[in-house]
Amino acid sequence: MSSQDRRTPARRTVFRAVSIVAVVIVVGIVVSASYVFYDVSMHAEDKGTPIGPVTAALIERGEYLTSAADCAACHDTPNGKPFAGGLPFKLPFGTIYSTNITADRETGIGNWSDDDFVRALRRGIAPGGHYLYPAFPYTSFTAMSRDDALAIKAYLFSLPQQHVANEENDLSFPFNQRWGMAFWNLAFLRDQRFAPDSAQSAAVNRGAYLATAIGHCGECHTARNLAYGVEGGREFAGDVLVGWRAYNITSDKRFGVGAWSDAQLASFLSSAHAQGRGSAAGPMAEAVENSLQYLTSEDTGALVAYLRTVAAQTGEVNTGQAPLAQEPEDELGRHVFEDGCANCHQYSGDGRQTVYASLAGSRSVNDPDGANLTQILLNGAKYRFKDQNVYMPPFGAAYSDAELAAVANYVIAHFGGKTGHVAPQDVAKRRQE
Ligand code: HEC
Ligand code: HEC
Ligand code: HEC
Repeated sequence: MSSQDRRTPARRTVFRAVSIVAVVIVVGIVVSASYVFYDVSMHAEDKGTPIGPVTAALIERGEYLTSAADCAACHDTPNGKPFAGGLPFKLPFGTIYSTNITADRETGIGNWSDDDFVRALRRGIAPGGHYLYPAFPYTSFTAMSRDDALAIKAYLFSLPQQHVANEENDLSFPFNQRWGMAFWNLAFLRDQRFAPDSAQSAAVNRGAYLATAIGHCGECHTARNLAYGVEGGREFAGDVLVGWRAYNITSDKRFGVGAWSDAQLASFLSSAHAQGRGSAAGPMAEAVENSLQYLTSEDTGALVAYLRTVAAQTGEVNTGQAPLAQEPEDELGRHVFEDGCANCHQYSGDGRQTVYASLAGSRSVNDPDGANLTQILLNGAKYRFKDQNVYMPPFGAAYSDAELAAVANYVIAHFGGKTGHVAPQDVAKRRQE
C-alpha cells in the first residue's frame, strides 16, 4: 500500500469532521439569526391598549414615578438639559452614553409608540431591533407594570423637547455588536412582571415593587458576575460600583441593616441620615437627593417594611459594638484629623453644626478597607437634603496619599474600633477611579 492510499481514509475522516463542524456553524448562525429576528419583533406582552387621554393626573403620577425610578440620574445632560442624555458610563471594554429621552422627534424618542416604550423598559430593545446595554437598568424595570411605564412616558412627553444628538458609543469589538445582547438577555434577563406575594402585607408588596421594579436598589446593592449579570441568590448582599461600596442591606443584624430600627431606616432613606448610623454619601447620597427624598412617607415606610423581609446574608462590612476607646498609635493620622477634620467632626463623633457630620455608628468608619471613606476624602460631599445644604470639602489636593491613608486609618480606629489597612497605594489607585 502506498502512503498516498493510507492517508486517504484519514483525509476523508477529516473532511467529514470539517463538514460536520461547518454544518453545525451554519445551522448555529441560522438558528441564532432566527432567534434574534424573533426576539426583536413585538411580542404579545409588549402590546396593550393605549393609555387613553393624557390627563394632568396621569402626568403627575408619571412625574412621581420618574423621580422614584431616578431616570434623571442617568439621563440629565452633564450641562443641565433635563433628560437629554449624554452621561458617559465607563465600562472595562469602552464607554457608552445615556441617550436623549425627551419627545424630540429627531434626536429623542418622540416617534416612539407606547408599545415601543414598554418593550424598551422591559426587554431592552429600541425600535429598529436596536438592543440596549444593561447600563440602562431594564433588568429591573422589566418588572414594572404597563400602566406605570406609560405614566412615565406621558410625563416625559409633557416636558419641553430637547434637540440634542446622542453621543456615539466607543466600544471595542465584539461588545459593539448590539445583537449579541439577545444572548445576554437569554441568560440574565428575567422578563417577568412584579407579582405580589399574597403571604405578605400590602406594604411589603408595595415596598418590594418600589425597591425592585422602580427604585432598582439591586443595580447597586446586588453583586454582578463576570458577565455583568446580577448574581442569583445574593440579592442586596452588597457590591462595589465606581469605587464605592454599596453595603449589604439584607436583614442580617451585623452585616446588613437588620439591627437598624424602622425609624433609622426611614430617616436614612428619606433624608440621608440616621441617628447613630451616619449619613449617605456618594451614589447613595445622590439617590436620596434626586429620588428617594421625594417618596411619600407611606412609600418610604413600605420600603422599610420590605427591607425587613429580605433574606439575611452575611459578608462585607460588619458593625459590631464600636468602642470609641481604641486610640491608634499613628501620629500622622491624628495630626491630619486635628488639622483638617475635627472642626466639623469632633472627637466624640457627633457632628458640629450639622448632624450629617456625625460619624459614630457609620458603616464607612467600620470598613477596614476604607473604600467609601477614601472616596469621600478625595471627592468631598455636596448635597441638598430636605432643604438643608450638606458640605464637606474634597481633600485630594490638600493632602498626600500617605496623609490621607493615615487619617483614614485613624478614623477607622477611633470611630470604628477596628484596625484600618488603607495604604498610600490604595489612595493613589482610588484617585484614578
Ligand atoms: C443607571 C442609569 C440609568 C437609569 C437610572 C435610567 N437609564 Fe435609561 N438609559 C441609560 C443608558 C446608559 C442608556 C443607553 C443604552 C444604550 O445605548 O444601549 C439608556 C437608554 C434608555 C432608553 C433608550 C433610548 C434610545 O434612544 O434608544 C430609554 C427609552 C430609556 N433609557 C428610558 C429610561 C427611563 C424611562 C428611565 C427611568 C424609569 C431610565 N431610562 C433610567 C441609563 C439609565
Ligand atoms: C446608584 C447606586 C445605589 C442605588 C440605586 C441605591 N443605593 Fe443604597 N447605597 C449605595 C452606596 C454606594 C451606599 C454607601 C453610602 C455611604 O458610604 O454613605 C449605600 C448605602 C445604603 C444604605 C446604608 C447601609 C449602611 O449600612 O450604612 C441603605 C439602607 C441603602 N443604601 C438602601 C438602599 C435602598 C433601599 C435603595 C433602593 C430604593 C438603594 N439603597 C439604592 C448605592 C446605591
Ligand atoms: C466643613 C466640614 C467638614 C470637614 C472639614 C470634614 N468633613 Fe467629613 N463630612 C462632613 C459632612 C457634612 C459629612 C456628611 C456628608 C454626607 O451627608 O454624605 C461628612 C462625612 C464624612 C464621612 C462619612 C462618609 C460616609 O460614607 O458615611 C467621613 C468618614 C468623613 N466625613 C471624614 C472626614 C475626614 C477624615 C475629614 C478630614 C480630612 C473630614 N471628614 C473633614 C463635613 C466635614
